[in-house]
Amino acid sequence: MIMKHFDRLQGEVTVPGDKSISHRSIMLGSLAKGTTEVTGFLQGADCLSSISCFQKMGIDINNNPETNTVLIHGKGLHGLSAPSDILDVGNSGTTTRLMSGILAAQPFTSTVDGDASIRKRPMGRIMTPLSMMGASFESLATDKCAPFKIHGGNLQGIHYESPVASAQVKSAILLAGLYADGQTSVTEPALSRNHTELMFESFGIDIKTIGTTATVTPAKELIAQKIEVPGDISSAAYFIVAGLITPNSEITIKNVGINPTRDGILTVCKNMGADITLSNVKDDIGEPVADITVRTSSLHGCTIEGDIIPKLIDEIPVIAIMAAFANGTTIIKDAQELKVKESNRIDVMVNNLSSMGVDIEGTEDGMIIRGGKPLHAATIDSKLDHRIAMSFAITGGLADGDTEIIGAECVNISYPNFYSDLDMLTK
Ligand code: S3P
Repeated sequence: MIMKHFDRLQGEVTVPGDKSISHRSIMLGSLAKGTTEVTGFLQGADCLSSISCFQKMGIDINNNPETNTVLIHGKGLHGLSAPSDILDVGNSGTTTRLMSGILAAQPFTSTVDGDASIRKRPMGRIMTPLSMMGASFESLATDKCAPFKIHGGNLQGIHYESPVASAQVKSAILLAGLYADGQTSVTEPALSRNHTELMFESFGIDIKTIGTTATVTPAKELIAQKIEVPGDISSAAYFIVAGLITPNSEITIKNVGINPTRDGILTVCKNMGADITLSNVKDDIGEPVADITVRTSSLHGCTIEGDIIPKLIDEIPVIAIMAAFANGTTIIKDAQELKVKESNRIDVMVNNLSSMGVDIEGTEDGMIIRGGKPLHAATIDSKLDHRIAMSFAITGGLADGDTEIIGAECVNISYPNFYSDLDMLTK
């Protein structure tokens, strides 16, 4: 796809529902008794994978893509039935890891598989703690990768010191903990997104967080809830950055989730000198939301490291774009997790930004970007990674010449209407 040029971006946009919260709504709704109604559900391919996996385990789920409303007719904590087929997670790491936590406790064996990217992603990080709890895993191709079989078992509560700050690992263990014979706790090296913990609270589950340790007490029964999914800050991030780096622009992104475990990009924008304001801040749906307004800004480089990294991990590709347009040097450290996302996001950003003329260097745990020079067009290989495609869609609009994105349609994973929403803001 050849990216359209723009001189200016102006207007309001509502981004689709949060991907993390949408996945969790399907899983907890399936385990609750009664009908859970989800509004603002993300119709991205990843969340549809979660729906189809739980349908394969006998849960009746009605998705209305016109209204983004999903009705999940949950059968209770022990209501899943053995799938007659492979559970196909597509491209979705969240489906793979969180669902595995649930499968670990089921009285049946299941097989999980996904696309070429999923088959390369590390699953040892969930296999280790879930095996300690009593499940067993068999990798069917590559060790500690998908495809794998899970033999569910009677689980014991554990205390797990996670080597990575990963909400997927934490959530897999906490979901398994719902079925264990005692409390289960997870300590992380830094706090990762806490949507599982917040949704556990709304479903009446006893969950406590002290510092970076979350502890769950096994649940007796979950009761169906109403869930309103806020806009995804990770999707809003493309318009936040686009509005800041495009001349004469002002964009308001409505109803965005600003959970403090996800809002690292807002801090980085402010540190780089961005004109960014929040309005209509509300906290009545279990997750805080706000409208975010950005205006063209003169940005400068900064260092991004330490505990903020998990709060902006998915935004690093688009933050690297912002750094390329900022004056001075931006250093990103402690972000080695980027290598095991949908693509190796350090390599892919370095290769693609270099080809547009940016002075960028990859490091073991991040990248160094010396920004402020004009960018020229190039052919961008998205590696079928949605966050790479969207990052370069906004960059291509500003570069000198025609930028082509290979695999541009992969935005469908998390933001099916991305290109038309970008078009709508283009003046
Ligand atoms: C997610 C957690 C993060 C994030 C992913 C969604 C989640 O992954 O990158 O897009 O919904 O829990 P890790 O937990 O592996 O860091």
